[in-house]
Amino acid sequence: MTDRVRIYEVGPRDGLQNEATPIPLEAKLEFIDRLVAAGLTDIEATSFVSPRAIPQLADADELVAGLPASAGVRFPVLVPNERGLARAEAAGAQALAVFTAATDAFTEHNIGMTVQESLAAFEPVLGRAAELGWWRRGYVSTAFGCPYTGAVEPHRAVAVALRLLELGVDEVSFGDTIGVGVPGQVEALTAAATDAGIRLDQIAYHFHDTRGTALANVVAGLDAGVRCFDSSTGGTGGCPYAPGAAGNLATEDLVYLLDAERIEHGVDLERVLDAARFITTALGKPLASKVGQAGGWDAATGRPTGRA
Ligand code: COA
Ligand code: ZN
Repeated sequence: MTDRVRIYEVGPRDGLQNEATPIPLEAKLEFIDRLVAAGLTDIEATSFVSPRAIPQLADADELVAGLPASAGVRFPVLVPNERGLARAEAAGAQALAVFTAATDAFTEHNIGMTVQESLAAFEPVLGRAAELGWWRRGYVSTAFGCPYTGAVEPHRAVAVALRLLELGVDEVSFGDTIGVGVPGQVEALTAAATDAGIRLDQIAYHFHDTRGTALANVVAGLDAGVRCFDSSTGGTGGCPYAPGAAGNLATEDLVYLLDAERIEHGVDLERVLDAARFITTALGKPLASKVGQAGGWDAATGRPTGRA
C-alpha cells in the first residue's frame, strides 16, 4: 500500500453545479488550467446531465472539447445515462463517474430513480465506457446519512459499492452528502467495505465540511488505509439541503494537513490558493476556507504564506 495520497479535485463539477452565478466557459477553463498548474492529476471537469437539472454545467460539450492536453491528468465527467455518455464521447471525454446513493429517497430526488433503477441505467453506460477504455468511478452518496431518511448503516453503502464494482468501476467514492459523518463512521464503513472484499485502493472518500468534521474524517480514512480523498478548490459547492452551510472540503485545507503531516501528494498549496482566489472571485464570493483565510504556514519563519 502506497503512502502517497491522491487528491481528486471536484471543484469544476461539484463545486460549481449549485452556484447560481453563471461562470463563463473561458473562466471555467482558466480555473482548470490553474488546477493543472497546481499539480492536481484527477480533475472532475463537468457533468453531462440534463441542462435543466444543472444549468451551470450546460456547456459541458464545449468545456470538454476545450480541455488542455495535459499528460498525466485525468478529467472525469459525470454521466447519468446513455444520452450523457454519447455526449461525453462526442466531446472527447476519456474518463467518467456515475452517481447513485445508499438510499432510494436521495436518488429519487436527485435523478428520479431508485438505487436499483440507477444501477440498471449505469450498466450499459459502464459497459460502453469499458469498451472505450475509459477510467470509471462510481459515487455512493448519502453513505453517512440521508437528508430524507436519516441514519445509514455501513452495509447499505457497501452493498451499492459492490454492485458498482461488479459493473466495472475502477473506484468507488463514498460521499458524506450532507456533512454529518464522524471519524468512527469512517472507520466502520472502511472496515465493512474491506470485509466485503473491496480493496483499499478501490475506495475514495468525499467529505463535506458542513459541521466541521471533514478533516477529522480524512485522518480517520488515512488511519484506515484509504489513500484517495475528494476536495474542491476554494471550498466551493454549498449543499442544497443546508443553504449557506459549508459543502465540499476545500482542497487547500486538505493540502495543508497533508503537507504538515509530510504525506506525499504532489499538489502545490500556493498554486491551489491562486486557483481558489480565481474561482471565488469569479463567483463574487469571499474565499471562505480556513487556509484560504489564514494562509499556509512557514515553519522556518513562523509566518503565514500564500495570502493575497
Ligand atoms: N444530457 C442532456 N439532456 C438530458 C440528458 C443528458 N444526459 N438526459 C436527459 N436529458 C433531458 C431529456 O431530453 C429531457 O429534456 P426535455 O425535458 O427538454 O425533453 C429531460 O432531460 C428529462 O429527461 P428524462 O429522460 O425524462 O429524465 P428525468 O427527468 O427523469 O431526469 C436525469 C433524469 C438523470 C437526466 C436528471 O435528473 C438529471 O440530469 N439529474 C442530474 C442531477 C445532478 O447532476 N445532481 C448533482 C450530482 S450529485
Ligand atoms: Zn461534494
